[in-house]
Amino acid sequence: MLYIGVDLGTSAVKLLLMDECGNIKHIVSKEYPVFFPHSGWSEQNPEAWFDKSVEGLKELLDGFDASTVGGISFGGQMHGMVILDSDDRVIRPAILWNDGRSAEESEYLNNEIGKDKLTEYTGNISFAGFTAPKVLWLAKNEPENYAKISKLMLPKDYLAYRLSGVFSTDVSDASGTLYFDVKNRCWSDEMCRIVGIKKEWLPEIFESYEVTGKILPELASELGINANCVIAAGAGDNAAAAVGMGIVGPGECNISLGTSGTVFVSASSFGVDSNNSLHSFAHADGGYHLMGCMLSAASCNKWWMEDILKTSDFASEQKDIKDLGNNRVYFLPYLMGERSPINDPSARAVFFGMSMDTTREQMTQAVFEGVAFALRDSVEAAKALGINIVKSGVCGGGAKSPMWRTILANVLNITLEQTENEEGPAFGGAILAAVACGEYPDVKSACDKLVKSVKKTEPTPELAKLYNDRYSEFSKIYPSLKVVYSDISKNRD
Ligand code: XUL
Repeated sequence: MLYIGVDLGTSAVKLLLMDECGNIKHIVSKEYPVFFPHSGWSEQNPEAWFDKSVEGLKELLDGFDASTVGGISFGGQMHGMVILDSDDRVIRPAILWNDGRSAEESEYLNNEIGKDKLTEYTGNISFAGFTAPKVLWLAKNEPENYAKISKLMLPKDYLAYRLSGVFSTDVSDASGTLYFDVKNRCWSDEMCRIVGIKKEWLPEIFESYEVTGKILPELASELGINANCVIAAGAGDNAAAAVGMGIVGPGECNISLGTSGTVFVSASSFGVDSNNSLHSFAHADGGYHLMGCMLSAASCNKWWMEDILKTSDFASEQKDIKDLGNNRVYFLPYLMGERSPINDPSARAVFFGMSMDTTREQMTQAVFEGVAFALRDSVEAAKALGINIVKSGVCGGGAKSPMWRTILANVLNITLEQTENEEGPAFGGAILAAVACGEYPDVKSACDKLVKSVKKTEPTPELAKLYNDRYSEFSKIYPSLKVVYSDISKNRD
């Protein structure tokens, strides 16, 4: 039997074909654009997600016996607001997870409704990227679009809806809406009332490994897939990546160096970060997790390489970087504002500490280091809760760079482990599909069987010490800029 995992990312959709033993048969990736209509805003066209996924599925299955595909499931970019009218037409482009336009609405929720109430109802406080403040923004700024809403959903749920005709979501992705009661794994009546959401707009909730429906007959015949092929609910991309990395059950950690950067700590029971730095979400294995999310991680390197240095040869830019741990240049990676732990949509990226002898290599190195330091902010937030992270899985595009892994392992002073395949969310999606089809009794047994850890990156005491000192300096920069960011953001378009 074959299983398909679909990772609906921000820059591309990645499709992965796996057999029942976890062997990856084929991977296809299809890009689509992200639009940045204003500083700190980001949007995407949901129809492009569907069109590119179908195009990708055709390519993925070319040369394979598509009739043996048993199930399809997903890992999807979280928090995005997708709205459909009563004819199931997309009303406006999706507002994405890294869009900071709803900063005011998020402040209103945190300050007027109050963080205590939000935490009681959902397990979380508000961040501008979450879905609830986006709905408030829409009602205020685009009342004509708000008035047309008939369905409100998350990105991968739009794709699942188009593939199966079933309006569904899963607990891990729903956790990032701020109108979901994470502890009880159901929609929050209180939050729906506060935000102005009708319950009938919302999808049915499933566990990530549950079957929601079957592929639509017309798509099945277009793709040559058996009409009995099931669709499983899937997960938010970080929970799906954790499954793909075998991070299930209590007390395991995974770090993703993708467009976003996340520190994901799995737990068997519900818990809240009383400092409000980490999100408290449901996991795809039936448990829970805490997560810190920085908005620009590998995307900082992509921006620096492609948009500023105008190169696509990332490896040659790294080859002359020799002096890890010694760099007077710092980079604050806040290209899209920042979520965890500073929760500041008005923050922006900064290079700091250049002098006449500063080199291109030092600035490139500072980008890698700045992202690692910002991830350490989330690891420190976990430490403050008594969570002691000594090792972690690492996945995402940035983890492919040995130098970046070395920097990260030493900045965090922990061992990083890579798995045999680096396809976190897509592999996790395929595993969830296999569990949904009964190939494995639960997510944990599937991961035990299918995920193999292969490579370790260990810190060294000398380099970890150098980075520890530099982290202390890095940590002084944002607090001294906080007020400046807030003043300047008032004049930004
Ligand atoms: C998690 C988050 C990001 C997106 C990226 O809270 O916002 O990791 O899911 O796709």
